[in-house]
Amino acid sequence: MAKLFFETYGCQMNLAEADSLVTKSEQRGHTIVECPEDADIIIINTCSVRLTAENHVIGRLGYYRMLNKERHDRDLRIILMGCMSENVGLEVKKQFSDIVSILWGTYNKDLFLDYIEDLVVKQESLGFGAAYSFMPATPSKEYSFKAFLPISHGCNKHCSYCIVPKVRGLEKNRDFQEIIDNAKQLVDEGVKELCLLGQTIDTYKHEGKRLPDLLETIARQSGAERITFLTSHPREFLYETIELMNTYSNMMPFLHLPFQSGNSRILKLMKRNYNIEEYLEKVENIRKIRPDIILSTDIIVGFPTETEAEFEDTLKAFKTVRYNEAFMYRYNTRPNTPAENFEGQVDEEDKLRRLDILVRTHRGIMSELLAGQIGSKTTALFDRESKYSDKIFAETGQKQYLGRTLNNTVCIVDSSVDLRGNVLAVELYDSLNAVMKAKLI
Ligand code: SAM
Ligand code: SF4
Ligand code: F3S
Repeated sequence: MAKLFFETYGCQMNLAEADSLVTKSEQRGHTIVECPEDADIIIINTCSVRLTAENHVIGRLGYYRMLNKERHDRDLRIILMGCMSENVGLEVKKQFSDIVSILWGTYNKDLFLDYIEDLVVKQESLGFGAAYSFMPATPSKEYSFKAFLPISHGCNKHCSYCIVPKVRGLEKNRDFQEIIDNAKQLVDEGVKELCLLGQTIDTYKHEGKRLPDLLETIARQSGAERITFLTSHPREFLYETIELMNTYSNMMPFLHLPFQSGNSRILKLMKRNYNIEEYLEKVENIRKIRPDIILSTDIIVGFPTETEAEFEDTLKAFKTVRYNEAFMYRYNTRPNTPAENFEGQVDEEDKLRRLDILVRTHRGIMSELLAGQIGSKTTALFDRESKYSDKIFAETGQKQYLGRTLNNTVCIVDSSVDLRGNVLAVELYDSLNAVMKAKLI
């Protein structure tokens, strides 16, 4: 039996898969260690969506090479797994052949466990599964009362900037009943919040059942206190999912709806299949159904040929919608994506300047939106202590806990009782940077 260390990068899908892999490894009798220095085998679950994610892993491999040289009792073995393996794994393996023993792709990640004995005798292997199969989701290793529940894998869209369809393959939908059973099992194990996952989650389909059917069944049958889902695609988005938020109090009134750009010419080049007017109309309709819904988004600035005026369109749409949460990126060329060869790449300096404007605009909007929540009463699921908790404890005798309200706003509460893992009624009484100050009621 081996000592394994898991290191995970990228999106929630990677986190969900890593949680399942840790559980499966323990079931096989392996020990999960807390730091890489204690491990026999390190499994790096990689991401390729931006170059920074790949570079970070290269840096880690450099560190592990050094660690291996300093180690005299046994060799350190590395399994490079996931999206980066699919994308550039062979080159990385060549560069780090002394420590990377197995390249493993994005399919059937759990089958790597069959290779561990081979690894112990240093037999090198390459593993890329032929088809994706869903692993049972397990409670999050970080917060045992939350779980990511993948319902579909891969993506049938062809956004011209994106590596995901290449590294994850075509969309595959999970069996409806299997998801329901998995959701119930998670709740039995103590999970309070379920986050359903899919790259374009609205396209979920299984034997005539669609995302609203799945959400409704989970809301009614699973016993989960809070249910949310990621990521909605503006073209595929279904209003029924918002209507469910009005019917079921355990459906979180929160929606992640990336718009990427506020300019229709750029959206067309991105192959997003909607224009900005259609997007804004959908947001308006969503707010008619659920006026207090909290929206979040992803934006890319500096896509090839984006002019200053086109960036201003993004800024305008951003200010029109007023998102509570926004993940903002500068365009990053990804090898083997259509946009790689587009002419008119934007200077890094311009991209950084546009990103900075967007980030500052977001801060302003967010603080106004948070101020608008002052005085409201809701519930929050507390998940961790704040980094100032010990300092506050020394001063006041109370610790400081962070939670997420039902609409996914971060709130902070001082308490002499450990609040972690509990869903509690709170009143939001002040706003502070990106969080709300709250008290228990
Ligand atoms: N499927 C989701 C969707 O369509 O919104 C998003 C998946 S992707 C993992 C997460 C985000 O990364 C995207 O929404 C996009 O904003 C960003 N992204 C993807 N490729 C990128 C690239 N080449 N450069 C910069 N950002 C990128
Ligand atoms: Fe990438 Fe587009 Fe698919 Fe999202 S919908 S994963 S951005 S190709
Ligand atoms: Fe990254 Fe792969 Fe997710 S590229 S964002 S880990 S699907």
